[in-house]
Amino acid sequence: MRTIFVTGGAGFIGSAFIHLILETTTDVEIVDFDALTYAGNPENLKGLDPARHRFVKGDICDKAAVLDALPDGAEAVFNFAAESHVDRSISSAGEFVLTNVLGTQVLLDAARAKKVKRFVQISTDEVMGSLPDDSNLYFTELSPLKPNSPYAASKAAAEHFVRAARETFGLDTVITRCGNNYGPRQFPEKLIPLMIANAMNDEPLPVYGDGRNVRDWIYVEDHARAIWLACERGRAGEIYNIGARNEQYNIDVVKTILDILGKPHSLIKFVADRLGHDRRYAIEADKTENELGWRPLTSWEDGLRRTIDWYRENQAWVDHIRNGAYRDYYRKMYGELS
Ligand SMILES: NC(=O)c1ccc[n+]([C@@H]2O[C@H](COP(=O)([O-])OP(=O)(O)OC[C@H]3O[C@@H](n4cnc5c(N)ncnc54)[C@H](O)[C@@H]3O)[C@@H](O)[C@H]2O)c1
Repeated sequence: MRTIFVTGGAGFIGSAFIHLILETTTDVEIVDFDALTYAGNPENLKGLDPARHRFVKGDICDKAAVLDALPDGAEAVFNFAAESHVDRSISSAGEFVLTNVLGTQVLLDAARAKKVKRFVQISTDEVMGSLPDDSNLYFTELSPLKPNSPYAASKAAAEHFVRAARETFGLDTVITRCGNNYGPRQFPEKLIPLMIANAMNDEPLPVYGDGRNVRDWIYVEDHARAIWLACERGRAGEIYNIGARNEQYNIDVVKTILDILGKPHSLIKFVADRLGHDRRYAIEADKTENELGWRPLTSWEDGLRRTIDWYRENQAWVDHIRNGAYRDYYRKMYGELS
């Protein structure tokens, strides 16, 4: 058995990664280390084989807890744990600096101390800033880091610490940078699950600004597979951009969701734009495709339908979140909408 250490495994992408690895390998066991913040949901880990998945509740900023949980000579650390919502980083950046920057450094130190074979940092295209509207420019691995939000700045800082660990200490590191993910189990503060959940409840759908911001969407399982291949086949010290060549205007995403659910476009409500809202993200994934032999397997149409079906079939999962503290946060961000 090869042991991997996954942080943030109770979140959206981390849990998708764990489900995928346990389903598609037979020789991997996982230590899943997660602080269970508002975004971490133990329900995301239901049904996993306890013989190959061990959950440890802990904070990546807590050095002693990390050293205690991280097995000696582990095959890899996959660092998914993060504060991940841009709006929250605009309201309060401190937690982002702690978890995303300090937490990453704690993990890098622990990985060296425990002689971990490879450190995989899950980063984001947002570290590269924003591209001009309707241009034919794309983010590549050589694009300069120009983060615009506190979230993106914290993820860019984390990348610098990962690079420094490689250059200074020779740690075997790989960084992946992906675009916007969608799929089952995404916390309903992010665009797609927020719109699905509101539409299902006949509540207004808040769209920032003119709705013409462009995001490059990828189905979460395709992202998870690319991360695994980056660990298995990637070259040490390299960065791999991950994208499905699927640019969409936010407003078109929202209209498509309403159409699939058979709800009227009159539910759309334009609200004041997010501060510093990046206009366009678009990823060139040639290096990842060529070096890792990876391709996205899920089309936008299939992925969106599967996602909507999942939310329809798991209304209790959404209700659970929507009844709780999430509602207070929602009111603070968008005001009373209904
Ligand atoms: N969601 C996207 O579209 C996207 C795109 C590219 C990259 N990413 C990156 O992928 C990673 C996962 O994103 P996500 O959307 O699944 O996030 P998420 O917010 O759904 O999950 C984050 C998880 O990390 C845990 N966590 C937070 N702080 C922690 C701490 N201090 N110690 C231990 N665990 C902690 C949470 O409990 C939660 O389970 C993040 O690093 C994010 O930057 C996300």
